[in-house]
Amino acid sequence: MSAHFGRVLVIGGGAMGTGIAARLSAAGIETVVLVRRPEAAATTRDEISRRVEHLVELDAASPESVRAATVLVGEAPGPFALAVESIAEDMPAKRLALALAESLVSDDGIVATNTSSLRLADLAEGLTRPELFAGWHWFNPAELVPLVEVTGGPRTAPETLERLAALSRAVGKEPITLRRDHAGFVANRLQYALLREAYALVEEGVCGVADVDRAVVAGLGARWAAIGPFASMDAAGLDVHEAVAAQLFPQLSRSTEVPALLREARRSGATGMKGGRGLLGDYPPGAAREIATRRDTVLALLAEDRREAEQ
Ligand SMILES: NC(=O)c1ccc[n+]([C@@H]2O[C@H](COP(=O)([O-])OP(=O)(O)OC[C@H]3O[C@@H](n4cnc5c(N)ncnc54)[C@H](O)[C@@H]3O)[C@@H](O)[C@H]2O)c1
Repeated sequence: MSAHFGRVLVIGGGAMGTGIAARLSAAGIETVVLVRRPEAAATTRDEISRRVEHLVELDAASPESVRAATVLVGEAPGPFALAVESIAEDMPAKRLALALAESLVSDDGIVATNTSSLRLADLAEGLTRPELFAGWHWFNPAELVPLVEVTGGPRTAPETLERLAALSRAVGKEPITLRRDHAGFVANRLQYALLREAYALVEEGVCGVADVDRAVVAGLGARWAAIGPFASMDAAGLDVHEAVAAQLFPQLSRSTEVPALLREARRSGATGMKGGRGLLGDYPPGAAREIATRRDTVLALLAEDRREAEQ
């Protein structure tokens, strides 16, 4: 796959910025990544290369289409056809990054944000061309998870959303375009609705955290990788679905608090795999990498399966 699109600027070389850059450069897009600190340049470059090589190893990109990304510190000469910011989730910092992005794109260039939770209407304040501003929400690992959510702010032109969705498809992503700016977009709301119930089940002593993960990996997730929740209900029969919904919906958690289990884990200093201890217990050195490798292998297999199904 080698996609045709103008130069793309990615602002921020963290987990998501490097993943986005890897996906774009693997698809042949001329990609520049802008980082703040000189000492970040080499690690960012290495991380993007690692991710691209991994895509090639997994057969999720062909070596011929790869166009190595450039990493620059502090400044990036424009113009760009698209500039996407993927820096820390902080409103003032993102507004500055978006103003910079707007100054570096061509007159019809798109300015995008990878925000997970900030309102596009607030982020767009101060932009001179809000019709060319959009949300472009990727999922970690960005180079491998097919979904991207494309979202407009109150003044985004429909054509901007169409162009961003078209680019997403051209680099091998599967975009959904939201009808309006909505906190958490679609996938995170679904994920957090499921997590709220998962915490409730564990806190009520119905099952353990590992059981929840097994129920999703061996049950719901396995099925949802093939057909989504609505298709699953169509398959089950809407009469059955209606009867179960009438029974279960009143019993599901409606908590609006951060779950006690999560608060306790945080109070005890747990940060998840990056710190060696999380909700599922301890992660010995190397365990996180092993889990990521398994996840990436499955993601690549699923993506290949979907590509074949589409042909
Ligand atoms: N991690 C995820 O799963 C995920 C998924 C979707 C979207 N996002 C969003 O993507 C964005 C980036 O998240 P991440 O997980 O890559 O974070 P990260 O901490 O890995 O990376 C953020 C990067 O931005 C840089 N940065 C911070 N402030 C900056 C500034 N003022 N100017 C320039 N660079 C700056 C940091 O040095 C770091 O390299 C956030 O908005 C986050 O909400 C994250």
